[in-house]
Amino acid sequence: MSNLMSLLESTPVVPLVQATDPDVAVKTTRALVAGGLKVIEVVLRTDNSLACLKAITEQVPEAITGAGTVLTEAQCQQAIDHGATFIVSPGLTEGVVKLAQKHGLPILPGIATATELQQAYNYGLRTLKFFPASLAGGPKMLKAMSSVFRDVRFMPTGGVNTSTLGDYLAVPAVLACGGSWLTPADEIAAGNYDAVTKIASEAAKLAQDLRS
Ligand code: 3PG
Repeated sequence: MSNLMSLLESTPVVPLVQATDPDVAVKTTRALVAGGLKVIEVVLRTDNSLACLKAITEQVPEAITGAGTVLTEAQCQQAIDHGATFIVSPGLTEGVVKLAQKHGLPILPGIATATELQQAYNYGLRTLKFFPASLAGGPKMLKAMSSVFRDVRFMPTGGVNTSTLGDYLAVPAVLACGGSWLTPADEIAAGNYDAVTKIASEAAKLAQDLRS
């Protein structure tokens, strides 16, 4: 089993890091790692996201850092060039999937319907993002999909938070839950990284308790 998969099996929570300042991105990631969350998704949503990704991979090697919100093949290549070790997309694009596969990187494209899931299945994928989870049917939808696609694991994101984490993790097909609730922008803007560590450690403990 890869390091990524074994970390997600033991602590099934993936925080999103969205930053413009590489120093802030590094401090946020260190705070998350201190709280027990080592799998980090850096979303490519700011002009400086790639620099943030690179800074994290160089300065926080204990984290497993991937790129999220990867929309195009060009972004996928840039993410790989800046050190991403896995790729996450909100939707399903063959070019992005094939490029990540060519580089041997785990790729989790987002799906929200059985048709998209079946398409991803036929690209050889068995681990997929489910997005936007809360609007696309939540845990009930995942139960229905996993009754048909029996060897697929899911990472629901989009509207997941502390109060719904347990409902998602109760679905056996859920590998891990991702989201931005773990990196509140106001605490980070205030430099309150202890708050980020506290949120991370509470989520890590909750997830571990729910899975054990
Ligand atoms: C994503 O990129 O996965 C979503 O933005 C996560 O949604 P959230 O902000 O509701 O957690």
